[in-house]
Amino acid sequence: MLRRIRSLSTLISSAKPSLLNQVTYGLHFLEAFSTEALKPAEAGILSKARTPTVNFVLGGPGVGKGTQCTRIAETYGFTHLSVGDLLRKEISSSSEYGEMILETITKGKIVSSEVTVKLLKRTIESSETDRFLIDGFPRSEENRVAYERIIGIEPEVVLFFDCDEEEMLKRVLHRNQGRVDDNINTTMERLKVFEAYTLPVIRYYTGKGKLHKINAIGTEDEIFERVRPIFST
Ligand code: C5P
Ligand code: MG
Repeated sequence: MLRRIRSLSTLISSAKPSLLNQVTYGLHFLEAFSTEALKPAEAGILSKARTPTVNFVLGGPGVGKGTQCTRIAETYGFTHLSVGDLLRKEISSSSEYGEMILETITKGKIVSSEVTVKLLKRTIESSETDRFLIDGFPRSEENRVAYERIIGIEPEVVLFFDCDEEEMLKRVLHRNQGRVDDNINTTMERLKVFEAYTLPVIRYYTGKGKLHKINAIGTEDEIFERVRPIFST
């Protein structure tokens, strides 16, 4: 079970040709969008008085993204949008996508970008604030490309909380939040999905010079101290 355990960060620099299939899939999926949906200039978000500031927060399951985001949001005045939480709210609000979202989360897979990005866009547009910390997104190259086409606000900072898989698994199995996906089988799948689909996004933002990797081993306070310099400047 733990044979896959190793530091995820060591995988970032290794290119994976098989992932190109996923990217290709994502691009095919994007062709399905209407021309109207592909014109960000007409989108509600960009008609706001000011273009919102967006930062992304990435990391594997149980790494502590949510906990750190709450602190960053409180300290530096951001609205924390956890995409996992937005999706879970869709399930409980009996939206038309609720059943599909529940099934996808239960399997540890990634929800279709069309659904996720529309949900994110709606949430940003209806928010009174204009500084966002988007947690758990983009989770795949498909998520990222859809975001760029539909929302298109360039993130200022991309945080990556890094931790070994053994520790992430331990944290998920001990957190007792009653989540359908916090069991061993789904979490092993989420770790695989993270490595296959999210690491390419991390590599992409590394290449753009936007990625800030944070060692996520330590106490909540210690980890937050590592984050501070990024937002204090
Ligand atoms: O970030 P969090 O661990 O709360 O996400 C829980 C689940 O929500 C993920 O395992 C995935 O099934 C779904 N999700 C998604 N796309 C995202 C964020 C979360 O499909 N961008
Ligand atoms: Mg979370």
